Amino acid sequence: MKMTVAVDGPAAAGKGTLSKALAAHFGFAHLDTGLLYRAVGAGVLAGGDPIKVAQTLEPAALDNPALRTQAVAEAASQIAVIAEVRQALVDFQRDFAARDGGAVLDGRDIGTVICPDATVKLFVTASAETRAERRYLELVNAGQTADRAAILQEVRARDDRDANRATAPLRPADDAVTLDTSDLTADQARARAIAIISERM
Ligand code: C5P
Repeated sequence: MKMTVAVDGPAAAGKGTLSKALAAHFGFAHLDTGLLYRAVGAGVLAGGDPIKVAQTLEPAALDNPALRTQAVAEAASQIAVIAEVRQALVDFQRDFAARDGGAVLDGRDIGTVICPDATVKLFVTASAETRAERRYLELVNAGQTADRAAILQEVRARDDRDANRATAPLRPADDAVTLDTSDLTADQARARAIAIISERM
């Protein structure tokens, strides 16, 4: 049986850190699907048409630290509402999930749309304030300037857009296990997730 772990949740809930740790622990490959939307967002900021950029996206485009800025995150969240953009990115994600040796995919709609038959589905969440504070510290630690209040506002705006879009809105799959990381350290979240996955392997 192919092992696929779906990790969904809102921005800055700790999905990325957790997914990397889980992939390392179980020896699975990891795909941060937000990078696909960010790469399309970056292409649009550079003047491209979102649907064309999505349809011609090369995997090499995902390996780019410039995708980590707030401006690209914002552009990604805006193009992520376009059904044709989402459709163009489905096959790449499903092929990745089906690879031998297991895979962890993190995003917004992995358990609901991309991999409805995933072996384990985690919905990782945290309060908007906790997530904004984490994003703030991430940016400051990366040497970028950041404004706490503006980040909280952006986190809320992205949550709202992700949860209310018509195509693949952010919501936990019916069979997802919710992990609220508001009061957990990264190590505690990792230990909980490993226990949940191990029970289902
Ligand atoms: O997770 P990350 O912050 O990198 O995602 C950037 C944006 O891409 C999100 O705000 C969301 O709108 C979109 N996204 C999505 N579906 C995914 C992953 C990301 O709509 N599976």
